[in-house]
Amino acid sequence: MHIHVAALAALVIQANTAPTTTEAASNAGSPSSDVYPPAGTKVNSLLFPPESVVGFPGPTPTGAEPYAIQTAPAYPYNDGDASHFPLIVPQPQSNDTGSKFDISKYWGNLSPWYSVQSADYGLPDASPLAPEGCEITQMHLLYRHGARYPTSGAAPSTFAQKIAKATKTGLAVSGELTFLADWTYKLGAELLTPFGRSQNFMLGVAYRQMYGHLLSNFTETGTIPVFRTESQDRMVKTAENFAAGFFGVPEYLDQVSIEILVETPGLNNSGAPYDVCNNSNVADKGGIGSTVAAKFALDAFNSTIARLQSQASGIDFTPTDAIAMLQLCSYETHALGYSSFCDLFSEDDFLNYEYFYDLSFYYNNGPGSPVSAAQGKGYLDEYLARFTGTFPTPMSALNETFDNDSTFFPLDQSIYADATHEVVVLDALVAFNLTALFSGPPLSATGNSRQNTFVASKIVPFATHFTTQVLTCPAMTPTKQIRFIVNDAVIPINQSYAGCPTDPNGLCSFDNVVSVLQKRSAEIDFDYDCFADYTASAGVDYNGRAPRS
Ligand SMILES: *[C@@H]1O[C@H](CO)[C@@H](O)[C@H](O)[C@H]1NC(C)=O
Ligand SMILES: *[C@@H]1O[C@H](CO)[C@@H](O)[C@H](O)[C@H]1NC(C)=O
Ligand SMILES: *[C@@H]1O[C@H](CO)[C@@H](O)[C@H](O)[C@H]1NC(C)=O
Ligand SMILES: *[C@@H]1O[C@H](CO)[C@@H](O)[C@H](O)[C@H]1NC(C)=O
Ligand SMILES: *[C@@H]1O[C@H](CO)[C@@H](O)[C@H](O)[C@H]1NC(C)=O
Ligand SMILES: *[C@@H]1O[C@H](CO)[C@@H](O)[C@H](O)[C@H]1NC(C)=O
Ligand SMILES: *[C@@H]1O[C@H](CO)[C@@H](O)[C@H](O)[C@H]1NC(C)=O
Ligand SMILES: *[C@@H]1O[C@H](CO)[C@@H](O)[C@H](O)[C@H]1NC(C)=O
Ligand SMILES: *[C@@H]1O[C@H](CO)[C@@H](O)[C@H](O)[C@H]1NC(C)=O
Repeated sequence: MHIHVAALAALVIQANTAPTTTEAASNAGSPSSDVYPPAGTKVNSLLFPPESVVGFPGPTPTGAEPYAIQTAPAYPYNDGDASHFPLIVPQPQSNDTGSKFDISKYWGNLSPWYSVQSADYGLPDASPLAPEGCEITQMHLLYRHGARYPTSGAAPSTFAQKIAKATKTGLAVSGELTFLADWTYKLGAELLTPFGRSQNFMLGVAYRQMYGHLLSNFTETGTIPVFRTESQDRMVKTAENFAAGFFGVPEYLDQVSIEILVETPGLNNSGAPYDVCNNSNVADKGGIGSTVAAKFALDAFNSTIARLQSQASGIDFTPTDAIAMLQLCSYETHALGYSSFCDLFSEDDFLNYEYFYDLSFYYNNGPGSPVSAAQGKGYLDEYLARFTGTFPTPMSALNETFDNDSTFFPLDQSIYADATHEVVVLDALVAFNLTALFSGPPLSATGNSRQNTFVASKIVPFATHFTTQVLTCPAMTPTKQIRFIVNDAVIPINQSYAGCPTDPNGLCSFDNVVSVLQKRSAEIDFDYDCFADYTASAGVDYNGRAPRS
C-alpha cells in the first residue's frame, strides 16, 4: 500500500512538473529519489516523546478570545504587507498625514519578521537564491517562535493593574485616551498567538517550497529528519507548526521526529543556555542592556507622556508606562488583531521604541554583552559537530545526553531545523562572529548617533531565522562553499573570517569556514564568561566575550 501510493506520487510529480535539464539529468536512473517519505519510516514516539510526556511546559495562562470582526477599527484586507496579514497596523499619530510608515517594523523583538536587504550589511547584489553555477546540498536553519503573549510578569500586565486601580479611585480620560475608560487587559502569557502560529507554519511552507528537493537525501538513506525544539509550550507548538507547514497535516506526525529538549533552570540545553549560564541573569553582566535601555526610556518619551497626561487625571504616567503602552500596541495587535494603543504614538516614538530594543539586545545578547558568545557556543559547537561528523564536547550549555548518539543527534542530515528563542539566535550570531551585523561604533546610550548596522527588529523579530546554505559550485575553487543568511539578507564574512575573500554572493570555502569557526569556538570560554566575577559596562563592543581583569 505504502509503495503503491509512493509510486503514484512519483507519477503525479513527474506529470505536473517540467524539470530543468539539470534536474532531469540528476534524477535520471533514480526516479523515486524525490519521493518522500521513504517507505516504511515512521516516528518512534518512545524515543521522541510528545509534549505531554516530556513535561516542563512553563506557565500557560490563556487570554480572552479575539473578536476583531466585532471590535476592530478596520477589516484586515490582504492587500498590504505580507509580513503582518491579518493584523491591522495603523499609521503613527502624526502631524504629517502624507507619510507612510510601517510601525510594525519598529517593535524590536516584538516585530513580525520581515525581509532584510543584503545591501544593509554590504552585499547589494546578493540574493538568497542559489548563485549562478552553484547547487545547494545542505541547509541549516535556526529559527525563533512566532508571536506570543507577553512573558510572565512583563510591563503590560503591571500597567493594566495600575489602570484598574486608578479606575477605582477616579481615573478620568478624554480625547485620544477615551478608550481607556472601558479598556480591559485581555492577554494571557507565554503562549503563541494565532498569528504567531501562522508565522511558523508559513516559514515551514516557505522552506519546503525552497528546499524540499533536499528531502531526497533522506529517501536515499531511508531515514526521516530530527528537528529540535525546547519543552516550553510555545516552543513545542512552534516546531509543530513549522513541521505542519513543511510536511503537511497530518503527514508531519509521521514524517519528522521532533526532539523536545527540557528547558528549565539548571538543565543543559543549547536552546536555552541562560538556564545554566549564571552570569546571564546578573544585572551588571548579562543584564547591562536592560539597564541602559531603561535609562534611555527615561528621557525619550517626555513630550508624548506630557501629551497623554494632558488627557488624563487621577493617574501619573511614567516612562515605564510609555514603554508598557507601546508594548501593548505590539502585543494586542499580535493577539487581538489590532490595538487602540498604537494610535497614541508618533513616528518619533516608534523610532525611540525600536532604539530601546536595539540597546537592550545589543548589550544583553549582542556584541556588547560579556555572555552572549558563551551562550551561543552550544549551538555553534553542535553545528560544527554536524560539519565534522563527530559528537560535540560539552564545554557549553549543550546537553551531552542528547548530543552523543546519532539517533538523537544525526550528523549527516541534508536539512536541519532547530527552534529557539530570539536571545539565543542573537547569541549564536555573535558566537559565529558575523560582525557585519554589528558594524560601526557600539550603540550610544543616548541614541544621539545611530551609526551601527544593528537593528533589533531585523535580527530578533518573531519567527526570525538564521539560515546556512552549503553549496557545490563546480566553477569555484574549492567547489564546496558555504554562506549565511539572516531573514533573507546574505551576510558578508570577508571581514570577520580570515581567509574568506570578498565575494558578491557572500560565499566562502566550506573548509576554511569550518576552521575559522573552530578557532572561534576555542576562544569562547564558557566557564569564565558564565561564572567568573568581572565587571562589564555598556558602551563597549566585547565581541560577546567577558573582559579579562
Ligand atoms: C511635527 O512633529 C514634529 C515632531 O514629531 C515636530 O518637530 C514638528 O514641529 C511638528 N510640526 C508641526 C507643523 O506641528
Ligand atoms: C539533559 O537533559 C535531560 C532531559 O532533558 C536531563 O534529564 C539532564 O539532566 C540534562 N543534563 C544536564 C547536565 O543538564
Ligand atoms: C549557578 O547557579 C546555581 C543556582 O543558583 C547554583 O546552584 C550553581 O552552583 C551556580 N554555578 C556556579 C558554577 O557558580
Ligand atoms: C524627561 O522627564 C524626566 C522626568 O520623568 C526628567 O528627569 C528628564 O530630565 C526629562 N528629559 C528631558 C530630555 O527633558
Ligand atoms: C553541562 O554543561 C556543563 C557546562 O559546560 C558541562 O561541564 C557538562 O559536562 C554538561 N553536561 C552534559 C551532560 O552535557
Ligand atoms: C551519552 O551520554 C549519556 C549521559 O551522559 C550516557 O549515559 C550514555 O552512555 C552516552 N552514550 C554514548 C554513546 O556515549
Ligand atoms: C544530498 O544528496 C546529494 C545528491 O546525492 C549530494 O550531492 C549531497 O551532498 C547530499 N547532501 C548531504 C548533506 O549529504
Ligand atoms: C569585504 O567585502 C565588502 C563588499 O562586499 C568590501 O566593501 C570590503 O572592502 C571587503 N573587506 C575586506 C577586508 O576584504
Ligand atoms: C571575528 O571578527 C573580527 C572582525 O570583525 C576579527 O578581527 C576576528 O579575528 C574574528 N575572530 C575570529 C576568531 O575569527
